[in-house]
Amino acid sequence: MTKKVRTAVFPVAGLGTRFLPATKAMPKEMLPVVDRPLIQYAVDEAREAGIEHFVFVTGRNKGVIEDHFDRQVELEITLHQRQKNDMLQMLSEGLPKPGQTSFTRQQEPLGLGHAVWCARDIVGNEPFALLLPDMLMRSKPGVLSQMIDSYNERGGNVIAVEEVDPKEISSYGVVGRGKGEDNAFDITEMIEKPSVEKAPSNLIISGRYILQPEIFDLLSKQSKGAGGEIQITDAMVKLMEHDRFTGVKYDGHSFDCGSKVGFLTANVVFAMDREDIAEEFKSELRKVVKELFNDVSIVD
Ligand code: G1P
Repeated sequence: MTKKVRTAVFPVAGLGTRFLPATKAMPKEMLPVVDRPLIQYAVDEAREAGIEHFVFVTGRNKGVIEDHFDRQVELEITLHQRQKNDMLQMLSEGLPKPGQTSFTRQQEPLGLGHAVWCARDIVGNEPFALLLPDMLMRSKPGVLSQMIDSYNERGGNVIAVEEVDPKEISSYGVVGRGKGEDNAFDITEMIEKPSVEKAPSNLIISGRYILQPEIFDLLSKQSKGAGGEIQITDAMVKLMEHDRFTGVKYDGHSFDCGSKVGFLTANVVFAMDREDIAEEFKSELRKVVKELFNDVSIVD
């Protein structure tokens, strides 16, 4: 019997330097894709997978994330007076229930592994999900739900992976693939931001994890790795010595919204998915693509 995954951790302390000046006073996790902030997509994915408690590891300047997951009574009164019931309903659906959120701070930018370790007391001695909100997922069912299915069968630790172009490998954690199927195979090795030559495959860690709580002890002893930071991947390598790691090549597509191109592409694709604006957006896109590329065949 596997223990239920009830808690999800969202590391949101990063400075977002790649999006300056937009992120000077606003957290990068609040950048909108169409009309929802990035962090909302990750929370919705977690909720769909049955998560009941949402732990945010924040930093200075991140207060609006906490506000975003709280009620906004003045706004609710105004929407109510204007009889905007669909908007009221949409806002309440996005909101965790009272007591379902916790916020703690990573006081110094010491790396992703350190950020996760900051959540140890809130998570306690239970398996937990870890979602990096920069990685925006387009998939049905959600990526974490797909991982939970594998976890329920195999237990241990589960990591979402995807194939990338070799030139992108050095920006990610990379896994080695052992026995099994695409939706559940043994991970044989892991390495953080390897060169193409040292990478065991082109399967990258996609920013979704289910981890056993033993990881916290390992993180507390973990020395600095790639980029001079405490890396979650290095602690997972140690945990792998005595616990199982399953890779899930999920059905879906990720957008790395930590990069400008990934973020902009996500906005286009997610807008196309939206019934309320897709048609109008498509016709505007057609016009600008024709103009920009001076090539009618692209869109006709
Ligand atoms: C982190 C992880 C890396 C993973 C990536 C996914 O790297 O350390 O293993 O592949 O997220 O986005 P970061 O993007 O924080 O450098």
